[in-house]
Amino acid sequence: MAGSPVVLGIESSCDETGAGLVRDGVLLGQAVASSMDEHARFGGVVPEIAARAHVHAMAPVVREALDRAGLTLADVGAVAVTAGPGLSGALQVGVAAAKSYAFALGVPLYGVHHLAGHVAAATLEGGPLPNPCVVLIVSGGHTSLLLVRDLARDPIVHLGDTLDDAAGECFDKVARILHLPYPGGPSIDRAARAGDAKAVRLPRPLMGRDDDPYAFSFSGLKTAAARWVEGHRATGAEPHVPDAAAALQEAVADVLTRKAVRACTDHGISTLVVVGGVAANSRVRELAERRCASAGITLRVPPLGLCTDNGAMIAAIGDLLVRSGAEPAPADLSIDPSAPLEYAALTPSAPAVRRAA
Ligand code: KG4
Ligand code: ZN
Repeated sequence: MAGSPVVLGIESSCDETGAGLVRDGVLLGQAVASSMDEHARFGGVVPEIAARAHVHAMAPVVREALDRAGLTLADVGAVAVTAGPGLSGALQVGVAAAKSYAFALGVPLYGVHHLAGHVAAATLEGGPLPNPCVVLIVSGGHTSLLLVRDLARDPIVHLGDTLDDAAGECFDKVARILHLPYPGGPSIDRAARAGDAKAVRLPRPLMGRDDDPYAFSFSGLKTAAARWVEGHRATGAEPHVPDAAAALQEAVADVLTRKAVRACTDHGISTLVVVGGVAANSRVRELAERRCASAGITLRVPPLGLCTDNGAMIAAIGDLLVRSGAEPAPADLSIDPSAPLEYAALTPSAPAVRRAA
């Protein structure tokens, strides 16, 4: 086939085994298997269980993605894989699989940063991202405001990061306190529909901070929500779960979207991209839409199914790297469980990125 190659993307950094096929910015097919149900009774991801589930799911998920795309392995012209950050055993499975496919097919391999994959998910609907754009990345392990230029080539500038918990982590922990089922974010989202966000007063952490205006902090919010719940339980009453969920969701969505819009206006940037698992949250999406519209900012959010971990986003960043002429990974590509987000590709080793002034 003429033009750029079909890129197979493989994701296995946490509890989702994902495979996707992308060519020239177009998603051809994808499949995801989740070990979420196996972790539910432990209230969080058990790394050993996740790794074992990836081993079982990997080949069937790749086959299913190919079937959905109407392709075979012989059509794959490059392989991209999440090399970090994530759970080390889980990452190992994906990287071993990707190396095997690339070696067996005789095609180049790209080791990519999981979060750059989340950003690239936003290109699968609506096309390439404008250069520059502001990206709010909100997942279970990360919350950052980024200045992104050419995602495949340029260093990613961190405007602000969370000082403690990530937004998703805050949802997950408070959901546990409220006895809502794992994973907590979607449970909070569902419970909040029947709640009144004004019924519980929760703080808006770091809102007025001018020395580091794009920094986030969610651990105090989690503590405030936990105190409110404990206060109720101490009196023998059960807290009103929908109200607590709605208030927490409102506080998180308020802080995230306010800071993101401020980052755009401060930097004169007209596009905000919101990605990561928490970008699936209905209130975050709603408030981002409303605030972007009134500030004259174009909002880009991936479709719901591409917000949480998947292989399509890894294929998408792989496709961007291939088309930008990036150097493939060496055959001894290794995982980096705590890789900082500096460049989209995790290899070759990139110079440290400076924080924006
Ligand atoms: O990006 P992701 O799938 O995995 C990581 O890279 O961490 O994000 C998972 C996080 C979890 O904390 C989960 O609770 C949260 O995203 N999440 C949500 C929703 N869907 C997933 N949080 C709030 N509302 C949702 N609808
Ligand atoms: Zn993720």
